[in-house]
Amino acid sequence: MSQIRAISQNLSFESVWINAKIATSKLDDPHSVDIIQDGAVGVNNGRISWIGPTRNFPKQKVVSDTKVHDCMGSLVTPGLIDCHTHLVFGGNRSQEFELRLKGETYEQIARSGGGIASTVDATKELSSEGLEKLVYTRALGLVREGVTTIEIKTGYGLDFDQEIRLLEVINRISEAVPARIVRTLLGLHALPSEYMEDREQFVNMVCEELLPSAVARGLIDMADAFCESIAFTPEECSRFFKKAKNLGLPVRIHADQLSDSGGAALAAEFSALSADHLEYVSEEGVKAMARSGTVAVLLPGAFYYLKEKQMPPVDTFRKYGVPLVLATDANPGSSPMFSILSAMNMGCVLFGLTPEEAFIAVTRNAAFAVGLQDDVGTLEVGKIADMVLWDLEHPRELPYWIGVNPCREVIIRGNRIIFSGTDQWSCDSLDG
Ligand code: NIG
Ligand code: FE
Repeated sequence: MSQIRAISQNLSFESVWINAKIATSKLDDPHSVDIIQDGAVGVNNGRISWIGPTRNFPKQKVVSDTKVHDCMGSLVTPGLIDCHTHLVFGGNRSQEFELRLKGETYEQIARSGGGIASTVDATKELSSEGLEKLVYTRALGLVREGVTTIEIKTGYGLDFDQEIRLLEVINRISEAVPARIVRTLLGLHALPSEYMEDREQFVNMVCEELLPSAVARGLIDMADAFCESIAFTPEECSRFFKKAKNLGLPVRIHADQLSDSGGAALAAEFSALSADHLEYVSEEGVKAMARSGTVAVLLPGAFYYLKEKQMPPVDTFRKYGVPLVLATDANPGSSPMFSILSAMNMGCVLFGLTPEEAFIAVTRNAAFAVGLQDDVGTLEVGKIADMVLWDLEHPRELPYWIGVNPCREVIIRGNRIIFSGTDQWSCDSLDG
């Protein structure tokens, strides 16, 4: 490096990563991966200011103040994005796990008062500090696996005060964890039993009190709803989405997971950023998503854990050009999985994505699901310098291994994250 640490110039790099094997989705063909065997990345103000092969590297921009990081040939990818998680919950549902192994279904358990409702009770019992500790550890676990953007939903509060409390927890976590946190109000997740006779009253509370108040307090980035026979009808979700859109929020939807309930079409009607799950989506639903630019978030953890048989129609999504995304759906009931690499593996093995598709699914395409496609998801000039160094040769190894963490280093906004102990981290610089 000494030969390029030379001339001082105005437009010098604040930091550079050299000797990198860079993998990112191609800019002109988002379906394939571009690999620069011997490349470098220059960073200014937390954003990528130069990227390309070493032979073109502008050495004169490396000055005495430039921090030079030698990747020693490591694979470097964009920071991964987990765009669908339910990290804020107390307790666990291992008893339900046992019941399901004996043959009871997720729907039967939900209808008999278990499922989401039991997590709501366990969450209520925890203090906000206790809850924060749990969410912090869960989120940091994702970061250690190379995730630099995490979407976190509420949904285990189910009343005004509790949902606001969960949002406050998410907001505090976003200060404490070295990752970009996208905050989602999952306002319509499950109907509390006390509203069984008057669904409308609950939907009223969510639409007229909770949602406006969460927006007024600056606590959320987007809104989500669970459209399903055991949850909320398309009409109820539609009402919620109208309100959210009026308040300037983008929407997402849990759609067509257990039945074709018209969720994808609804997503399209509201230009939702994404529709998620989608095992039962119809071809018409896929076409509608293609028209509205809504991406398909597939959640193989829930498919696996609930031993579902109906596969999401991956070929139909490909046929109509709907971008495929993968996420963990980390939650205590249907997907107690806190590993994006495992979600990638399952996306390939269970749903038939190619390893290349799985890589693009958790980088470029996932950025669209959280509305951050201008900032993250690919390595290109102008984007935020969220990068991961891996002890791997090729991005296809990301979904290949199971149960190993090949993440060597995480870089957020051009800052290296140094992990220590089980739950500690620090930054190699304070800027950015
Ligand atoms: O995304 N589908 C709804 N919500 C979660 C499951 C929540 C739970 O069972 O606790 C999901 O799979
Ligand atoms: Fe979910």
